[in-house]
Amino acid sequence: MTAADVPAFRPDTLAVRAGQHRTPFDEMAEPIFMTQGYIYPTAAEAEAAFAGEIQRYQYSRYANPTVTMFEERLAAIEGADDCFATATGMAAVFVSLAAILRAGSRLVSSRALFGSSINVFDEYFTGWGITVDYVDATDPADWERVLATPADAVFLESPTNPMQDVVDIAHVAGLAKAAGALLIVDNVFATPIGQKPLALGADAVVYSATKHIDGQGRVLGGAVLGGVEYVDKVRQMVRNVGLTISPFNAWVLGKSLETLPVRVKAQSASALDLAGWLETHPRIATSRYPLLPSHPQYELATRQMTLGGTLVTIDIALPDGTDPHGDEAKAATFRFMDALRIIDISNNLGDAKSIATHPATTTHRRLGPEGRAKVGMSSATVRLSIGLEDVEDLRADLDQALSAI
Ligand SMILES: Cc1ncc(COP(=O)(O)O)c(C=O)c1O
Repeated sequence: MTAADVPAFRPDTLAVRAGQHRTPFDEMAEPIFMTQGYIYPTAAEAEAAFAGEIQRYQYSRYANPTVTMFEERLAAIEGADDCFATATGMAAVFVSLAAILRAGSRLVSSRALFGSSINVFDEYFTGWGITVDYVDATDPADWERVLATPADAVFLESPTNPMQDVVDIAHVAGLAKAAGALLIVDNVFATPIGQKPLALGADAVVYSATKHIDGQGRVLGGAVLGGVEYVDKVRQMVRNVGLTISPFNAWVLGKSLETLPVRVKAQSASALDLAGWLETHPRIATSRYPLLPSHPQYELATRQMTLGGTLVTIDIALPDGTDPHGDEAKAATFRFMDALRIIDISNNLGDAKSIATHPATTTHRRLGPEGRAKVGMSSATVRLSIGLEDVEDLRADLDQALSAI
């Protein structure tokens, strides 16, 4: 399959076929080029490569054929003109902004954000003289107010981690454009199969490939996707600072893309089923899932997402008068989590194995009770990442663990 074929095929076909350039050995599977560098037939060719007169592989901090396979395949699925892979998802978040911001720049971001992203913005970007202004992600008027002033970049997650708030990407894209800013969307929760931010007007998309793209708990990775000019700025920065992905990890991730659509569709179907069932469970106060009619942005979610994703965020029901941020709430929630027999306690998501996370004490610990309350999270909140196990076994596991509270 050549780049010219890409527009003709659907994402499920591209996930299996795009990005493969067979060597003269006619191998079936994509090879792993575990090499830090490349040789030149002549000194003049090395000179021409370094002068930018010819395009070829020079050094694996810059580019590597196995990494290219992963990048081309992901770009084809996403419908992006270009893609650059990074060592981790956080490397992708960081470089997606650091490549375009300078001292004096203004970044506007949704307040509800993955904890490490907030740490990067608050501890590093602000320290480097970049202004960071936060917005209530689900309030269109707040976006309008904050983006009435010019900005350089806008960053958001939708749905948000872990509270599943859905942001109107097309609306924010219009405001960002008018403010002179690039809109970058962290699409980890929705996955490349469930939501296409570029088609909704975003300029760039970032992924932690560690999540659904691997989906089998093996490697870390990330990617930035968007237009050629923007991705080239990201590429130039990574070449220099070295946030480069290993060819082995890129190979695992490229092969994982082959099964991504099948996995995400199956996991999302189970997540929708369990989210609806949990909502009616007497030991559950709330069950948040973008495609449940009870979700506050249900109508928006159905418009911009083709799948609701693999995550369900629940709040355990507490006796009347219990402080949802207090120790009693935490103890009841831990009793539920510790009683799970199939579902593992971990802080990853998007895996074939179902996972329960207590964000208040792990991924979102540093937000503090006030920061967590601002985004609607408490000590009774559990993020469930629904895997590929039989949905009836997962229902039975959740039911018996809820009885243990
Ligand atoms: C929404 C979101 N963005 C970014 C990241 C960072 O990814 P990584 O752990 O691969 O650096 C994560 C998870 O860790 C995440 O959940």
